Amino acid sequence: MKPSGEAAAAAAPGAGPWDECFEAAVQLALRAGQIIRKALTEEKRVSTKTSAADLVTETDHLVENLIISELRKRFPSHRFIAEEAAASGAKCVLTRSPTWIIDPIDGTCNFVHRFPTVAVSIGFAVHQELEFGVIYHCTEERLYTGRRGRGAFCNSQRLQVSRETDLSKALVLTEIGPKRDPATLKLFLSNMERLLHAKAHGVRVIGSSTLALCHLASGAADAYYQFGLHCWDLAAATVIIREAGGIVMDTSGGPLDLMSCRVVAAGTREMAMLIAQALQTINYGRDDEK
Ligand code: IPD
Repeated sequence: MKPSGEAAAAAAPGAGPWDECFEAAVQLALRAGQIIRKALTEEKRVSTKTSAADLVTETDHLVENLIISELRKRFPSHRFIAEEAAASGAKCVLTRSPTWIIDPIDGTCNFVHRFPTVAVSIGFAVHQELEFGVIYHCTEERLYTGRRGRGAFCNSQRLQVSRETDLSKALVLTEIGPKRDPATLKLFLSNMERLLHAKAHGVRVIGSSTLALCHLASGAADAYYQFGLHCWDLAAATVIIREAGGIVMDTSGGPLDLMSCRVVAAGTREMAMLIAQALQTINYGRDDEK
């Protein structure tokens, strides 16, 4: 079934205080998805940001501007944290005000290469608590949604995480992150090696943190970890995973810190702790200190 605003709304019945915002997020994610799908196979102007592997295109800017300008018209008092605004120097500060946390294209490197694993991610927080998340897998037309206390869905199908607790039976997802200096790469590879030594069935890198996290929410993988992802990669997905019954935590095993650029997520707390204990930390600093 193709995604629609009605399907997403019908999937989680009952009025809530942020329904209008949620519906706006769904409509904008679908609209952005159309633009990204069309642009995927066209020529692109590509620039780099923090490293040679950290890419941005004119479509990232176009989509981010579209989403923010439409939301600002409807919700003028709300605040925004968005990937390309942050890259241009805007501060990432999560206050108690209603705040939209936006990644216009997650998987920009995939997008540049026409690799069809790209998403739009829109999260929404109030009083520093995540209320809902909307992630649209643009090429597969899958709309992932999660609303606090109201479940998580892919199109109209309810999501449920895997209940696996044994690392030697786990499929684990991760992403490389933007840093490619020798010390970072060594730690990245050694973390992968540790999980493979622990006999995980596999470790996968698909090039989009938000979609990897959606696979976890769907039960198609048992765990996810990453150093170097940002609050806009994590905000929407965190609600979706929690509402699908999963755990999202810091790599230390403590509570999630959205600004810390590191995460472990899993279907069960046992699995999340096993992954956290296996990892060596890669320092990426914090989003709110850049
Ligand atoms: C990135 C992708 C990538 C992950 C990075 C993310 P972007 O997001 O999800 O797979 O390794 O950490 O920041 O730049 O494509 O929006």
